[in-house]
Amino acid sequence: MTLFKPISTSPAPGQRLRTVVVPWPEAKPDVYGVRQEVFVEEQRLAHSVVDDPDDQLSVHVIASIDGEVAGIGRVTFIADDGQIAWVAVRRPLRRHGVGLAIMRQLIGVCIDEGCRIISLNAQTHALSFYERLGFRPLGRRFRMSGIEHQHMMMDVDDREMRRRESRYR
Ligand SMILES: CC(C)(COP(=O)(O)OP(=O)(O)OC[C@H]1O[C@@H](n2cnc3c(N)ncnc32)[C@H](O)[C@@H]1OP(=O)(O)O)[C@@H](O)C(=O)NCCC(=O)NCCS
Repeated sequence: MTLFKPISTSPAPGQRLRTVVVPWPEAKPDVYGVRQEVFVEEQRLAHSVVDDPDDQLSVHVIASIDGEVAGIGRVTFIADDGQIAWVAVRRPLRRHGVGLAIMRQLIGVCIDEGCRIISLNAQTHALSFYERLGFRPLGRRFRMSGIEHQHMMMDVDDREMRRRESRYR
């Protein structure tokens, strides 16, 4: 993967978006770079973004645009559940489909791993982003690290069923 560098401009038309699964610890510099920029500098998140012991147990997806790191996300497997976390796109590159591309790859990884359920804790500003992918809110909203969150879930069988049904419409 690329070296993490500062960016300030939006992607130009025609630039190539790519998402890849990167093993840990190879993914570390890019993952920590984006987390620092988005969660620490932008969102002022209270807790550490580098000391998460689940990082080494997780599958990490990194998105790039023309070789420049654009965003990240990870999934951790617990029994039949794929738990998605730390999804972030660098600010100048948002609303260009990077987040959806990361999520689609993470969901694909979950399906390949045989997950029945995919879950995440969404920051509430991003609810519609996750709803668009088929996640549904579950339970009450809560605060974590000073930010309002909503637990969300997707039943993989339902999603697959809907996808297959739509092919025959
Ligand atoms: C949430 C986030 C990952 C979305 O990434 P993105 O690359 O901007 O998303 P996309 O361009 O793929 O968005 C696709 C669609 O999702 C929806 N969407 C994206 N961001 C949204 C937001 N913040 N609020 C509401 N809807 C949003 C829109 O429908 C959008 O389509 P549109 O641009 O045609 O309207 C990004 O805003 C981000 O990194 N935010 C800061 C970190 C964060 O909050 N991470 C989530 C932790 S749970």
